Amino acid sequence: MTFIVVEGPEGAGKSTLLRWLAARFRADGRTVVTVREPGGTPVAEAARKVVLGFPYEMAPAAELFLFLAARADLVHKVIRPALAAGQVVLADRFELSTMAYQVAGGGLAYEEVARANRLATGGLVPDLTLVLDVPVAMGRERQRAARKVQDRLERQDDGFHRRVLEAYRGAAGPGVAHIDATQSKKAVQDAAWREVMAVTVLSTRGVS
Ligand SMILES: Nc1ncnc2c1ncn2[C@@H]1O[C@H](COP(=O)(O)OP(=O)(O)O)[C@@H](O)[C@H]1O
Ligand SMILES: [Mg+2]
Repeated sequence: MTFIVVEGPEGAGKSTLLRWLAARFRADGRTVVTVREPGGTPVAEAARKVVLGFPYEMAPAAELFLFLAARADLVHKVIRPALAAGQVVLADRFELSTMAYQVAGGGLAYEEVARANRLATGGLVPDLTLVLDVPVAMGRERQRAARKVQDRLERQDDGFHRRVLEAYRGAAGPGVAHIDATQSKKAVQDAAWREVMAVTVLSTRGVS
């Protein structure tokens, strides 16, 4: 089973790294499934439209449950079947985003959210979570340069984004690796692949 999540604030380079990882695994002959949260199933895409696309504010818990509804459906319909088939699953955001945005950013209680997330995932935990670290201003500048249209969460104030970044920086635990994403794309890719190799070696030895 190879379930790898790429995390980090907006403009950190998640989507760029994910595309590279997919190509790198495919070059090794692995079958790769890539997913982007929230989304990836009809139900999850519908939740995405509401949670990111609606111009209205919503209750913090309403936002949480929309994200978790999307995650539950994605895990059930796409991620678990792919892992069961021996495929590599690469996810652009997962549980750590909920902890960064809805808990650290939005102020919901950590333990309650962790429990609700376990319900959504059925306890599925990534083998590796790559956390890309960039200062808030650099992420925003990269997005501006790429002319990305901001969604509802991206339009939150700087205080919100600083709390999100601090939560990412504090993330720890088995399978969590931090990468300095102010480096060149090549340096980020090399660092990410070293982490992938480290967990892959552990799991083929049956250590993890
Ligand atoms: N290491 C990097 N150095 C410079 N620019 C980068 C780097 N990684 C990504 N970018 C650029 O920054 C922009 C945002 O990258 P993206 O992968 O879409 O970020 P995210 O998915 O985290 O929001 C893109 O234009 C991308 O080409
Ligand atoms: Mg992206």
